[in-house]
Amino acid sequence: MLNIDNNNYISKIYSKSIDLHQFKDESYHSRNKNNQDADNQEEANEDDIWERLNYKCQNEAKQYCKSVYQDLKTQKACDVFIFEQNFDLQNKILTHNEKYIDYERKQKLQKAINAIMAYQDKNNLVDYHPNINTISGEIKELVDKEMTAQQKNKWWGHKQKEEKQQNTADIVKVRNIIHQSLQPYHKDYTNSPKQGEIQAYFKRMRQNNGYDQWGKDSKTSFSEFLWLPAVFEFSEKNQMYEVQGKLFHPLEQCPDLAELKQELGYLLTYFSKPLQETHDHFKQLHYKLMHDYSDFDDGNSIQDVKSKVDFSQKIHAIVKISEMEIAPNSTYSGQWHVEGFSSDNILYTCLYVIEHDENLVDGKLKFKRTPRSDDVPGDPYEQEQCAHQYCPNYEYLCDPDKVIPLGSLDIKENLMIIFPNQNIHKVKGIKNVTDKPLKRKIIAFFVVNHEDQPFTVNDVEFIKSIEVIKDYRLRDMYERSKNKQTEAQSFNYCEH
Ligand SMILES: [Fe+2]
Repeated sequence: MLNIDNNNYISKIYSKSIDLHQFKDESYHSRNKNNQDADNQEEANEDDIWERLNYKCQNEAKQYCKSVYQDLKTQKACDVFIFEQNFDLQNKILTHNEKYIDYERKQKLQKAINAIMAYQDKNNLVDYHPNINTISGEIKELVDKEMTAQQKNKWWGHKQKEEKQQNTADIVKVRNIIHQSLQPYHKDYTNSPKQGEIQAYFKRMRQNNGYDQWGKDSKTSFSEFLWLPAVFEFSEKNQMYEVQGKLFHPLEQCPDLAELKQELGYLLTYFSKPLQETHDHFKQLHYKLMHDYSDFDDGNSIQDVKSKVDFSQKIHAIVKISEMEIAPNSTYSGQWHVEGFSSDNILYTCLYVIEHDENLVDGKLKFKRTPRSDDVPGDPYEQEQCAHQYCPNYEYLCDPDKVIPLGSLDIKENLMIIFPNQNIHKVKGIKNVTDKPLKRKIIAFFVVNHEDQPFTVNDVEFIKSIEVIKDYRLRDMYERSKNKQTEAQSFNYCEH
């Protein structure tokens, strides 16, 4: 069920603002009426009374706004399709008793993944996700130089906040079973008949210096790494989506890969109807720019190209399967992020937590979103002053650089969801309260806008060894850590 965010909170904040405005007017006038015969001294205090009333209303508005935001944080994640049993539309509060749907082919899928992991173990193909701290001086220098050049070209650029990067290497170890970072396009190690088109695509994306299709800052990989999706085509004969061509370059020789491809086809078929339903909802929405620089039209437009996309015949999805091991007696939290750069052109994430040790507790997946045009009731330019006067978060709610809380979901086994790439999200507090390391496993399909970004893993031949690709991966990771799309973009690849 798609849990829709109907923006009531903004109406509440506005209504409160209007109420306070009326309260102030009425209080002031009734005082004046009572003081009609007052002496000059009383008249001199009029300004003072007005100020005090104003101050009282402002405070009350702030408190009210805060309480609305607190409520938002306790709700079950909105703007997310949740595969939940007994979904109750009336109950939007997260109760922690949510029961996720059991996927019918779960065991077959687990078996297929286990066969791949055994093959990787045997053939020295196990890949643990590298730690950003292992990046060498040379790569750092290269990316930093490029970043400085980019910043100089950006006259409007808001400063990236220098955040403390949390080093989670001792807490979580991530094994990449299938991972986009081991097969991205890069001209240095791939051959492609479409190389010219891909370069032209990067050029076009770089020229768009405004906002992406979700109203976020548009960010393009300047090192020209492109995460490549696999192609899932709908087979009329078998009534399901099937992988066409390659899934994952390092494993194409593995005899067990066919089984995994088939199971992933079943899983994506299971996701496909809700995916289309989610897309039908989000492609209608419009994103608003209420930006300081809106007088300058060049580059300040939303590239809203998602409405053309239809998933009935094919889905291009970047497939990721990871196993995370969380250290004994520790708590893992991720960082706020969206998936990929704008150039990776990801529209939706379909996520399935296929395994999650029951002794990993308290984990939450939190969401926020960028503002939309329907956030402000009516035309803001025609709003009465009274509606704005005591709406302390007016700028916050309407600024595209800021984001609105959408609630959260419990992370536990069988969590299955679809969410648009407007939703900035973060894993919060998965606790391992035992003395042993504990594991969880996830499958994600990052669904790509195949109308705007048509290139797939089938268009590319990898001509260098996996070691070369791994070296380049560090450069890609470092760039992603520096060239963030939101104020708090994760430097690492997503870990749900
Ligand atoms: Fe993510």
